[in-house]
Amino acid sequence: MATRIFSGIQPTGTLHIGNYFGAIRNWAALQADHDCVYCIVDYHAITIDIDSKALRAASRAMALDLMACGIDPKRSILFIQSSVPEHAELAWILGCVTSYGDLARMTQFKEKSAGRKFISAGLFNYPILQAADILLYKAQGVPVGEDQVQHLELSRRIARRFNARFGEFFPEPEPIVEEKGGRLKSLADPTKEMSKSAGEPNYIGVMEEESSIRKKVRSAVTDTGLVAGEEMSPGVANLFEILELATELSGDLSIVVELHADFKAGKLMYSRLKEVVFDSLMDVLRPIRQRRAELEASGKVEEILASGTKKASAIARENIARVREMVGL
Ligand code: TRP
Repeated sequence: MATRIFSGIQPTGTLHIGNYFGAIRNWAALQADHDCVYCIVDYHAITIDIDSKALRAASRAMALDLMACGIDPKRSILFIQSSVPEHAELAWILGCVTSYGDLARMTQFKEKSAGRKFISAGLFNYPILQAADILLYKAQGVPVGEDQVQHLELSRRIARRFNARFGEFFPEPEPIVEEKGGRLKSLADPTKEMSKSAGEPNYIGVMEEESSIRKKVRSAVTDTGLVAGEEMSPGVANLFEILELATELSGDLSIVVELHADFKAGKLMYSRLKEVVFDSLMDVLRPIRQRRAELEASGKVEEILASGTKKASAIARENIARVREMVGL
């Protein structure tokens, strides 16, 4: 039996190229030889105050984005978390084998709760729900970014504690960390990670208008903030990183080699680097947008998600039934 993979992404409305190169492209690649379950985690999204009117649409939009990026619902299970309420039930049960002290140590909780007027218990319990997502499918591998490794470690502890208390049932899930592309920086401030929450100038959306992407690439910060001991400024290094990721698949790295040599020789024009970055990036993004438009026009997203729910539910129901029995419910 192929290894089961599980991963989740919040329905934030739109993917940026950091998400794509750092995560989703790897999710798509894993489909070749794994049994993959991919989940749009809307229960997680409500741990902070978000626009609930927009949430439903954002979840559908994320499904379209993921499919356009290569998640194939014929090969993988793709569904929206809240359509399988067993996630919430298992989260409750797992909460009872999770230590308060462990949760209080989560750095993401500290970051996300800092400066908030209202900190929900949901935000605190977030990693328990994440463990439930993974364990509900008895997944062994979890492709995640570096920032989720601590949550994964907690998922493993939770699995161990459940197994110790109620009997061997859950495998301990291993993180699969994508080394390359996971660390794209903001073009406007290359000392910061590319992220949506930092605001519009800090990320490039996979579906963003071409003219807007061109503008962001052209005005990317290049020569300030040289870090001692590093030969390239963070901004230039980031542009090279994007270029490498974007040209990787074509198999033709000659342009990267050429521009690197120019840089070493001190004759690289940043305007040329930016031009090439933009062109290579658009070569990657264009077919994704094309697929996105076709999928949207086909009007099949509801049907596809319903079928994903059905497949996910079948696994979830079987496992939760066993858990209930073990726990004595
Ligand atoms: N916490 C993850 C993130 O912010 C999203 C997530 C929720 C997840 N459930 C998951 C990732 C289960 C992996 C497995 O990126």
